[in-house]
Amino acid sequence: MHNSANEINSVEDAARKAESSTLFSPKFYRTDYEAMNKLNIEPVRAEWDAMMAEYEGDNNHDHFQRDETFADEVRELMPKLTPELRQEFLDFLVSSLTSEFSGCVLYNEIRKHVENPDIKQLMTYMARDESRHAGFLNSALKDFNLGVDLGNLKRSKKYTYFKPKYIFYATYLSEKIGYARYIKIFRQLEQHPEKRFHPIFRWFQRWCNDEFRHGESFALIMRANPGLLKGGNLLWIRFFLLAVYATMYVRDHTRPELKQAMGLEPSEYDFEVFRITNEITKQVFPIMLDIDHPAFRSGLEQLFACTQKANAGREAGGVVGRARQAYWAVAGALKFVQMYFIPVKSHALPNTVKMVPAW
Ligand SMILES: [Fe+2]
Ligand SMILES: [Fe+2]
Repeated sequence: MHNSANEINSVEDAARKAESSTLFSPKFYRTDYEAMNKLNIEPVRAEWDAMMAEYEGDNNHDHFQRDETFADEVRELMPKLTPELRQEFLDFLVSSLTSEFSGCVLYNEIRKHVENPDIKQLMTYMARDESRHAGFLNSALKDFNLGVDLGNLKRSKKYTYFKPKYIFYATYLSEKIGYARYIKIFRQLEQHPEKRFHPIFRWFQRWCNDEFRHGESFALIMRANPGLLKGGNLLWIRFFLLAVYATMYVRDHTRPELKQAMGLEPSEYDFEVFRITNEITKQVFPIMLDIDHPAFRSGLEQLFACTQKANAGREAGGVVGRARQAYWAVAGALKFVQMYFIPVKSHALPNTVKMVPAW
């Protein structure tokens, strides 16, 4: 993490980081717009209309603006950061910006390509929210003269094609886990304001309510199309749950100082986030990962160790380095497969889908 090759010291570094496509970096997606156009949400009409009214009400329309003290806080707090923490924070800003903008681009593309009024309206609202989120993060980067040219990122980033159902599983999870991550940080810094090393964290509560609502939208789409939530699709849901949880664990452990500076222990924080996400996803997935299974925790630790060793191999370079990188990448993949077979927990789906962000 702290080798100079990975550091963000210039706009070019920030752009390169946002553009990079590794296993653990946020991706941009394309999908089948014709299939999106055919979606039917009638079975959840009442809950859907209530949600649309919430979007329409737009209770965060004035939230993503800086207050008078923002700039002073940045000036006062930033010089106190260690170089390691500063790098981890910049990395956090760039990767968060990339994933917010990824949502913005995807929702906008779907909006442009569908006629289905329900889907079009939803995508318009979600793109609106994600564009505010991305803009707010980018303004934080601009304080460091590290703003990312989003138009350029949109053109040059590699896109991954996902069938609509994979979009639903993956984005539903990333919206909900995003909510859980932000609310845990907000609650922690609410109790320990002396550990709030940047003003942006004061925005997290109302911010993550947007993400919660985005997740609700995908939950309703999936519940309206129950075929997505049974049979062979349960194997995909299981895969996405593990992929999203494992990615978060590896990323958080790659930048441990960020959580430590907030007074959070990365593993504890991650397991709290898993617990909240498990609780929320009961609304839509009939299975959840058994995060208390001893093989789950040790599996994540080993997976992280494999990625560290693979990275060390890559950094060492040369034939030996590349061989070590390949070896540990395969070891990591095998560990992932092993974890996939840890038994999951099953439950019946509730009649009412909608939940409130009560954490
Ligand atoms: Fe967002
Ligand atoms: Fe979102």
